[in-house]
Amino acid sequence: MNYFDINDINNLSEWIDEAITLKKAPLSQKSLGKDKTICLLFFNNSLRTRLSTQKAAMNLGMNVMVMNFGAEGWQLEYGDGEIMDQGKSEHVIEAAQVVSQYCDIIAIRAFAKFENKKDDYQEQVLSAFIKYASVPILNMESAIGHPLQALTDMITIAEHHKKSKPKVVLSWAPHPKSLPQAVANSFAQYANASDFDFVITHPEGYELDPQFVGKATVTNNQEEAFKDADFIYVKNWSPFADANYGKVINTDSSWKITAKKMALTNNGKFMHCLPVRRNVIVDDAVIDSENSLVIQQANNRTYAAQVAIKKILESINN
Ligand code: CP
Repeated sequence: MNYFDINDINNLSEWIDEAITLKKAPLSQKSLGKDKTICLLFFNNSLRTRLSTQKAAMNLGMNVMVMNFGAEGWQLEYGDGEIMDQGKSEHVIEAAQVVSQYCDIIAIRAFAKFENKKDDYQEQVLSAFIKYASVPILNMESAIGHPLQALTDMITIAEHHKKSKPKVVLSWAPHPKSLPQAVANSFAQYANASDFDFVITHPEGYELDPQFVGKATVTNNQEEAFKDADFIYVKNWSPFADANYGKVINTDSSWKITAKKMALTNNGKFMHCLPVRRNVIVDDAVIDSENSLVIQQANNRTYAAQVAIKKILESINN
């Protein structure tokens, strides 16, 4: 099996419970990955994903190889039938098969390039590795999804919610740079698969792909959305609509998360995947408050990765 997105999870609640169990005894499955190797390929920067995925693999007894492919690998070609007489030195057809010979799982981080929306939303890089590799693929954030982060976030909410159907709000916040929709897409997808009162709030023009919005309530009124919320999950993303795909069209600081807005919630918890720009996305007073879960979220990245790698290893061993 691959862990590409939520469709690879047979039972989300079971995965969450298993991650919480692994968190209590991280080395309990240390023999599962003995003599197995995971290769982590990074086309983009990372702190949490790189270290937590390595730690998860080591907790399962695996060998780990890491390559900063974007900076150190050959530039890859993805197109069919291309005459490769320009800058790209190697085709993914060979690269994926070659890397497959060195390891048992390939984990990949490859963000949206914002050059071509169709390429991004067809997951050009991950799809090509899935097609040509002969070993399972683990998604460490692709063009349109971050399933390890979303699984982490569901684990964190499961650990902290106090009522059966919590109100969970995904809020846009301003950022000076153009960021992918991946984290917001996956969070929405996993929230929709959970028993939440789920609300998305963003300025006009920042509508997400409807396939991820699903049954969520959507509003452009952030303060209305925050009322009685149990969890405020904050993230910037760039527009999905064709006209402004991947551009920055709004940096309105009135969307920043402040203590005054958090006071509208039901003593709500503040969540963000990190890295975060302090006092642009969120005020210090909020991220430093006792209701902030950002450090616990980052810790849970290890156990989300560990349960995903464990499932893949079990599929290899069977
Ligand atoms: N949240 C997250 O994916 O962090 P990194 O980009 O540092 O890996």
